[in-house]
Amino acid sequence: MKLRQWSTVGLVAVATIATLNTVPATASRPYDPTTQSLGTLGLRHGLHVGTAVSMDALNDASDPQYRKLVSSEFASVTAENVMKWESLEPTRGAYNWGPADQFVDFAKRNRQSVRGHVLVWHNQLPAWLTSGVADGSISKQELRELLRNHITTVVNRYKGKIWQWDVVNEAVSDPWDTPSTLHYKGFWAQNLGPGYIADAFRWARAADPKALLFYNDYNIEAFGSGNPADDKTQFVYDMTKSLRAQGVPIDGVGSQGHLGTQYGNFDTLQVTAALKKFSGLGVATAFTEVDVRSQLTEGVQAGNSEEINPRLQASAANFSVLMKACLAVRSCLSYTVWGFSDKHSWVPGWFDDPPEGLATIYDENYQPKRAYQELKSDLIFAGPPYVLPRIAPKPRR
Ligand code: XIL
Repeated sequence: MKLRQWSTVGLVAVATIATLNTVPATASRPYDPTTQSLGTLGLRHGLHVGTAVSMDALNDASDPQYRKLVSSEFASVTAENVMKWESLEPTRGAYNWGPADQFVDFAKRNRQSVRGHVLVWHNQLPAWLTSGVADGSISKQELRELLRNHITTVVNRYKGKIWQWDVVNEAVSDPWDTPSTLHYKGFWAQNLGPGYIADAFRWARAADPKALLFYNDYNIEAFGSGNPADDKTQFVYDMTKSLRAQGVPIDGVGSQGHLGTQYGNFDTLQVTAALKKFSGLGVATAFTEVDVRSQLTEGVQAGNSEEINPRLQASAANFSVLMKACLAVRSCLSYTVWGFSDKHSWVPGWFDDPPEGLATIYDENYQPKRAYQELKSDLIFAGPPYVLPRIAPKPRR
């Protein structure tokens, strides 16, 4: 009854507008999803499409296009570097909050959700910390206290402003490491033992009861042999299962999604199956750092289209595989690209033997590439029954 009344009012209103404007703008211009941003299209599914943000590029007045696209195209942002320990505390005890604060304020002004990156990682640690441990002036016990303090201080500062925190990053080795049997690797495991992982989640939870707390890693897009000794995805799955069984407040697993077109990679159904299996543990999932790089052969560098085209096409296909899998699994809350333009990608600086690049969804002149268009069409063409709204877990206490 009530509904009927409302719809009658609606009809009267529409009729009035129609009489006032002989040709209503909306009638002549039908909704065209291709003009919408990735962020807007993602939100139709409850999915946050985001990007990593370089604060240097964001503040570069001679590069206004960068800032414009960060704010117009994405629903979520991650700080590419300014929330890492070396940036936040370059000198012991003296926090440099400026750039991270600016980043969080920028996101708020643009109504973007924030992925906090990163609380515990073996890279980009301040020199005072690593050298102090190396020369014995920082004891193991003190190191544990320093970590607890760092997590507490940083999470506290941004409490209520962070949607998802990457609490622990890249804790697991790769098959090419020594020993090749998968294990907990790096500075923190070596100095504190693997128990630091559970500690880190508990400390982060104590400081922020509402943020979703993530474990984040690369090369976990799909399951392999199923043997945790050589299957990194299985290792991370077993780790997550055991943390959950111990009551550790881990709410999500982030799959970075750094892919290369020279590798075999995965099909959509394999990636979907992996996300589903993780969801079965009660955790959220997300793609957190997606990029798909290619080798910059002499031909590519010389502009040979026969070498460039297959790479751009393969890159687009891989971006799309991860997007479709994410859309298909309701626990997959966000899809973040690790930089959106080849002008500012970390890839050429990191993968130089052989040189690699072409890893993002816009070229160096901010022209959208096929990868961008494919992500857009994935978002446009998705819908029920296979693609349903997201379901987020409650932060675990
Ligand atoms: C990279 C940044 O993009 C670079 O600018 C920086 O020099 C090194 O780190 N996995 C991660 C990210 O979790 O933090 C890394 O970011 C890329 C790999």
